[in-house]
Amino acid sequence: MNKILTVLATTTSMLLPLAATAQDHDFRVGLITPPVHVWNQEARAMGETLNETSDGRFSVTTFPSGQLGSESTMLQQLQTGALDMAWLTSAGLTLRVPDMSALHAPFLVDNIADAAKVLRSDEAIEILDALPAATGTVGLCYAMTGMRQLMTKDAIESAEDLDGMRFRITPAPAIQTFFEMFGAAPAPMPLTQVYDALANGQIDAIDMDYESIINFGYHDHASNLMETNHHLFPMVALISGRVWAQLSPEDQTIVRAAAQQHCDATIDRFVEEEAGKLEKLKGIEGLTVTEDVSSEFFGDIVERWDADWSKETPYVEKLRTLVATY
Ligand code: BEZ
Repeated sequence: MNKILTVLATTTSMLLPLAATAQDHDFRVGLITPPVHVWNQEARAMGETLNETSDGRFSVTTFPSGQLGSESTMLQQLQTGALDMAWLTSAGLTLRVPDMSALHAPFLVDNIADAAKVLRSDEAIEILDALPAATGTVGLCYAMTGMRQLMTKDAIESAEDLDGMRFRITPAPAIQTFFEMFGAAPAPMPLTQVYDALANGQIDAIDMDYESIINFGYHDHASNLMETNHHLFPMVALISGRVWAQLSPEDQTIVRAAAQQHCDATIDRFVEEEAGKLEKLKGIEGLTVTEDVSSEFFGDIVERWDADWSKETPYVEKLRTLVATY
């Protein structure tokens, strides 16, 4: 083969979809959560499923605990194709996809079973359609971690006590608004920095789910937990648009089905295990748990938050309307 033919052959094989050449592919999946987290367990299990359904061609290597950087860094890596997949919080996507902020509306649902219904709704799934243009990724499916609760160093008697409190939040404007509306000082930081920030007194309180509280042991440095269920906390399983475009339609179907299977398993596990996690935390010595704090404790936050965020996205109203039918 002369030089020109060799170059052409090499270039052509580089452009062929992965499955057209029946190539093996190890999907690198980035997560902010630690190896013990349900998301990581299910991302690894997705690897086993993919291995079976692709006849051994596909595998998964997970990169936990923000090893590859923050969620916004991972999003950039997905965009360039440097990273194949990531399981990211919807919070981390709200800057690029404002409609996703509606999923963080306060007291959108009363319980985690209804949170699961929202994430399986056509309305929520429609929001994923904005991802390719906004981020260069394809949103394969939603999952979630547990409902958000408040954990504080000092006990809270009323919503007025939140005034001036330094609250760690997941970086997202919609979450920031919630805390600012009580006069709190939100401190956006990645999950990986929360334990140290609590330990060294940089923050007074956190907005968190039971799974992460148990995994990290935040009760070492914050002895008050309020069961507020103030918002749900979705995850989106993303694949790089560049990597997606390299897959044949058959392989896209295989990848989408494997992701969906493990998104569903993640959602189901959180619904089933939420009550048990609260029981476990109630058993921790030195941790004061206040159960069933109702939305009334937070006054007219729903009206105030919705008034602001309905201007940003029609999905606040769409999701409130949907949930009213549950
Ligand atoms: C957080 O930022 O609080 C968070 C992120 C992923 C899973 C759980 C919590």
